[in-house]
Amino acid sequence: MTQQSQRPAFAGWLSTTNDITRTFLAANRVPGLINMAGGLPEPATFPTAELAAIAADAVRDHAPEVLGYGPAEGLPELRDALARRFSSRDLTLTRENVFVTSAGMQGLDLVGKVLLEPGQLIACQYPTYLGALDAWRPRSPTYRNLVIDDPAFDAFSALDGAQFAYTVPNFSNPTGKLVSVETRQALVDAAHRTGTWLVEDDPYGTLHYDGKPLPRMIDLSARTNPGAPYAGPVVYMGTLSKEIAPGLRVGWVIAAPAFIEALAMAKLGADLCTSGLTQRIALAAIEAGLLEKIQPTILDTYRQRRDALCAAMREHLSDWLEWEVPVGGMFVWAVGRDPSLNTDDLLKHAMAAGVCVAPSSVFDATGMNRRALRINFTLNDASRLAEGAKRLARAFEAMRDPKK
Ligand SMILES: Cc1ncc(COP(=O)(O)O)c(C=O)c1O
Repeated sequence: MTQQSQRPAFAGWLSTTNDITRTFLAANRVPGLINMAGGLPEPATFPTAELAAIAADAVRDHAPEVLGYGPAEGLPELRDALARRFSSRDLTLTRENVFVTSAGMQGLDLVGKVLLEPGQLIACQYPTYLGALDAWRPRSPTYRNLVIDDPAFDAFSALDGAQFAYTVPNFSNPTGKLVSVETRQALVDAAHRTGTWLVEDDPYGTLHYDGKPLPRMIDLSARTNPGAPYAGPVVYMGTLSKEIAPGLRVGWVIAAPAFIEALAMAKLGADLCTSGLTQRIALAAIEAGLLEKIQPTILDTYRQRRDALCAAMREHLSDWLEWEVPVGGMFVWAVGRDPSLNTDDLLKHAMAAGVCVAPSSVFDATGMNRRALRINFTLNDASRLAEGAKRLARAFEAMRDPKK
């Protein structure tokens, strides 16, 4: 008889993920399915010709740098360019305040690595970006939900005692909502008073379709010590994923120098350094004004798609769902009129009807919130969005009357 060797079990946190997440992450590969689940940009907005030329120049002119290893903190010239880009009347940044990441997801991962002991408390804007919950899952944190638009929200008690607080103040993922200036200020004041790090995750800040941008929390925080290089409690995170192309995998963290040093230690154990090639491409794109050049097209495209989705939802889905039209970002957050709606169940009917949306359970650390849906409007054109809304209505009907 051959002896079966006993392989060690996989780490326990792996069993705390769920099938729902896998279902909608795989949606892109299902033929005919309309994918309104992910936060995916429209590929036609990628500036491919410009990026191809920049990439060719980068390899030709900077071969040792772009093909070799680089510093963990990032390409010095890119750190300087980002320091210039985010410095403002209130906020003084130097290279030491800037850390380049392999896009926003790595920023979230490294923040968890440098701040969390197993089981510690994170105060999270609720509902919470699924990727952030996934990034911190290996540390098995505990969560305090920050329901920021609750009139009783008190920023001090929200942050007090947490290792860090996590917010997406601009067009939050998943709700698409903006955090008001008053609440931003209250969160910043609370971070200064409690000493809690305040993570301001801002991938959508430039995707503003109506009205004016609101001040960043890191700028509000810098007002307490004007002129000095930033050393406060806000940890500001950004990415090129929604502004140019997610395939570049370039993002940044802007924070106090001590925080940047801690991130560098963690990055050595992650990927050593972000790709020198994509950092060079990012630098050249920023210096050539490519972001500003493509922004009007991106905003026009996404504004029209938001309006198309909301019109189709009004036509087909208003019996079941209610929502606010978002002023920016990539998502409509639609809440069931019926409090007993279970969007995990709805997703099964939606997949059968040929449309995929993201159910609210995945944006809740406890998985308990089943009443809402996150619907993306940036990836599909108006006619597919309309068809997607129709298919979703069919899914609601099928759920009400399974024999249909
Ligand atoms: C709130 C939020 N943070 C971070 C990210 C990470 O994006 P990336 O890793 O592509 O920069 C996303 C992506 O959708 C997001 O919605």
